Amino acid sequence: MTEDIRALEFVDGSLRLIDQRLLPMHLEYLEARSEEDVFQAIRTMVVRGAPAIGGAAAYGAYFALCEAEGNADSFKARCTHLMSARPTAVNLEWSVRRMMRKAEETGYDKDALLREADLIVREDVEMNHRLSEIALSLIRHGDTILTHCNAGALATCGWGTALGVIRTAWDAGLDIKVYADETRPRLQGARLTAWELTEAGIPVTLIPDSAAATLIREGKIDLIVLGADRITANGDVANKLGTFPLSIVAKEYGVPFYSAAPTSTIDFSMKEGKDIPIEERDPDEVRMIDGVQIAPRDVPVFNPSFDVTPHQNITGIITEKGIIRPPFDRNIERIREGETL
Ligand code: MRU
Repeated sequence: MTEDIRALEFVDGSLRLIDQRLLPMHLEYLEARSEEDVFQAIRTMVVRGAPAIGGAAAYGAYFALCEAEGNADSFKARCTHLMSARPTAVNLEWSVRRMMRKAEETGYDKDALLREADLIVREDVEMNHRLSEIALSLIRHGDTILTHCNAGALATCGWGTALGVIRTAWDAGLDIKVYADETRPRLQGARLTAWELTEAGIPVTLIPDSAAATLIREGKIDLIVLGADRITANGDVANKLGTFPLSIVAKEYGVPFYSAAPTSTIDFSMKEGKDIPIEERDPDEVRMIDGVQIAPRDVPVFNPSFDVTPHQNITGIITEKGIIRPPFDRNIERIREGETL
């Protein structure tokens, strides 16, 4: 098994985060010691990727309880602040709400909250391994897989979702190849996915996002696997900007298109993708690269961080409870009721 990278780890009272903004040039860590530190780390993308945000936020809620000094209202206010760090990935709210419920159940017991945060992290890693094993049935010897953004160990509490699938297939001896979209504007594919796969010794070729359609049309892609930031009750998937156009091309050319995500990424309370709040980030992410201006200084920019892929374009959603296939609404409801598919 290829060794794991830990995007987050709770050590001696502080949350140690890989500063993902510096990869792959520098592997440096940032210590978060308060709810505000965790909030800033999520907002500024020191830690990013839906399940990793959820894991970090769990410790943020623990810090919130320590800082609230037994005052339930102050704890809730800090948790509300934490949940506002980024809007799209549902794992943030899912994790903080779970921590709030645990606080109430245990009479605001700090130790119980720290144990719950550790459990959220452990469960995420387990879910990623499980969904990766389930996905083995989809991958054949010699397959070439295309992925977008970074859904690896860095984006989760460990192992990864889409990259977990790829790593598990590789470890099972399947001779696979990967194309990674660079993922403009923040380049998670170039900086993070290419790094993770290279570290794991898995053959990866980096491409500009706009090269994916040509590869698909030329029959060079057998399978597309990527992550998710929020999946609604009808199977629509919010993921990194560029996922939706990829799904259209995949459908046009009959290439299977899978999203891999733990069930903590499913927002059972949201009916459809059009209701998902889509984060818009700083225009300078598009006007500049690494602090260097590449566009007219004040040119207007539209910079949504995510897009929504309609369920009609999705072949299946790989979860730790099985592969969700159409009809997505019915099968997601079965998952909500506790069934395994
Ligand atoms: O803006 P980011 O880097 O947090 O966006 C991350 C993604 O879109 C990932 O694909 C998604 O969170 C899945 S991570 C397992």
